[in-house]
Amino acid sequence: MKILANDGIDNSGKLALEAKGFEVIIETVKQENLIKEINNQKYAALLVRSATTVRKELIDACPELKLIGRGGVGMDNIDVEYARSKGIKVINTPGASSQSVAELVFSHLFSMARFLYDSNKHMPVSGLSDFGKLKKKYAKGIELRGKTLGIIGFGRIGQSTASYALGCGMNVIAYDPFVKEANIKIQIAGTEGVSVKISTVGMETLLTSSDFISLHVPKQANGNAVIGMEEINKVRQGVCIVNAARGGVVDENALIQALNSGKIAHAALDVFENEPTPSEALLKHPKISLTPHIGAATLEAQERIGEELAEQIIEFFNV
Ligand code: 3PG
Repeated sequence: MKILANDGIDNSGKLALEAKGFEVIIETVKQENLIKEINNQKYAALLVRSATTVRKELIDACPELKLIGRGGVGMDNIDVEYARSKGIKVINTPGASSQSVAELVFSHLFSMARFLYDSNKHMPVSGLSDFGKLKKKYAKGIELRGKTLGIIGFGRIGQSTASYALGCGMNVIAYDPFVKEANIKIQIAGTEGVSVKISTVGMETLLTSSDFISLHVPKQANGNAVIGMEEINKVRQGVCIVNAARGGVVDENALIQALNSGKIAHAALDVFENEPTPSEALLKHPKISLTPHIGAATLEAQERIGEELAEQIIEFFNV
């Protein structure tokens, strides 16, 4: 049975599948050629990350496709319900990348708190001639310990982010319409760890009480932002915001306005409304710490994703 992993798959997953007799092809077929290729090669399964989209048109045109697998969490690039209504199995790997996303959020939080993203741009250019000037420019950093992190979306990734925050000595508040409370386990080497119970708060409380805000929600079904101008008007002056969830859950235009006015001190973006061609105004903004959608891009997460996909595929095809 042939599987096309169009956005790649970790070797661990590939080997596990091959051991069960699957043929796994990891070449990337261009979106416009995908239907033809799936039918010509008689692929039984299509695996994607976020780059390849799997819409109704493809689903209708590929009747031999039995399974669509998303190596990752967000399924907004797949018409999931439609595929299921056509009898196609759709899977993802919801638990495999939480820690990697949480660690990326913390990279950005530290980067914003100490101006690292800006310093890394300016030191190579003027570190030699203007060392003192730059030292002064970055002299007003802040510490994370003791500050409040507001987490919007308290599922697996939000909770993992909370554990890092608690480990750093931050206060954590969280908003999630579907989660009332969660026990957050903090790993401390050499001990059994500590568990902290966090009860969620209302959005209003989160917005008005956080020094840092991180979003961990899927793309909204109506396409609306979770943080728009109305919400930004309620946040504390000088808050920092991280979006490593999905492009558009923070309104990009409202964000730029708030950064320009100083209402938001810094933002960190890993995801963008218009991937893979994000707005230049964001890319060039001096107060934004930037990464190109790499939340799940660690060796460890990709290995877990590959293994989890393989397990589910093997179970589904019952081999
Ligand atoms: C996800 O939803 O799992 C993340 O956004 C990662 O996306 P990627 O697999 O394209 O890196």
